[in-house]
Amino acid sequence: MSSLRYALPRIAVHWLVAALAVFLLLTGMLVLAELPNTAQKLGNLRIHMLLGGVVALLVAVRLILARRHPAPAAARPVRAGHVALNLLLLLLAFSGVMLAVQSGAFAAVFAGGALPEDFRQFMPRKVHGLAARALMALVALHVLAALWHHVVLRDGLLARMGLGRGKA
Ligand code: HEM
Ligand code: HEM
Repeated sequence: MSSLRYALPRIAVHWLVAALAVFLLLTGMLVLAELPNTAQKLGNLRIHMLLGGVVALLVAVRLILARRHPAPAAARPVRAGHVALNLLLLLLAFSGVMLAVQSGAFAAVFAGGALPEDFRQFMPRKVHGLAARALMALVALHVLAALWHHVVLRDGLLARMGLGRGKA
């Protein structure tokens, strides 16, 4: 069974990134995007930017770990889905940084500048919003597939990511 599991460091990074990404997606859409760009928003933006940066670093760590600890065998479409999840996370971090630089949000959050009236006038904001929606859809598919394996096929797939005991 152990050969079918991901290595422990990969499991740890998977769940850390999953928790942070879900937090950023939900608070980004339900809180950040709804708040007017007043001084009250700065604290929320600071947390969002810092955690977004942490996610980008963790994805880089995950890519390094993947070289050291290869994943257990998986079908090609499954692997492609995992690559797409990582690419969308990197696109979110990249477009977020571009947006923060272009709009002056970095200066506002970390050096006491003013926020722009609305982020939607900046191109990277559109990319960020679209990538967030695409990631939500893909994560939903990913979770449904995992639950399908667990509940319907009962093949112990979740054990590969450290949940439960697995089958083989
Ligand atoms: C934002 C949330 C999530 C993201 C971005 C994500 C991303 C990934 C990625 C990139 C992999 C490939 C392995 C790796 O490199 O770590 C993976 C594998 C996996 N994930 Fe997630 N995941 C998320 C949430 C979840 C949740 C909530 C579950 C469980 C319900 C789950 C179950 C699994 C399982 C079982 C695998 C192993 C699949 C295999 O056998 O290859 N993931 N995930
Ligand atoms: C990598 C993980 C990240 C995720 C999952 C994420 C997610 C989100 C989401 C869901 C929104 C709201 C989008 C909408 O409703 O259309 C948002 C907005 C935003 N994000 Fe991110 N983000 C990430 C990284 C970053 C980074 C690294 C920065 C900057 C350094 C950043 C800066 C922003 C800004 C400035 C907004 C605009 C808020 C507004 O429109 O009022 N994000 N993000």
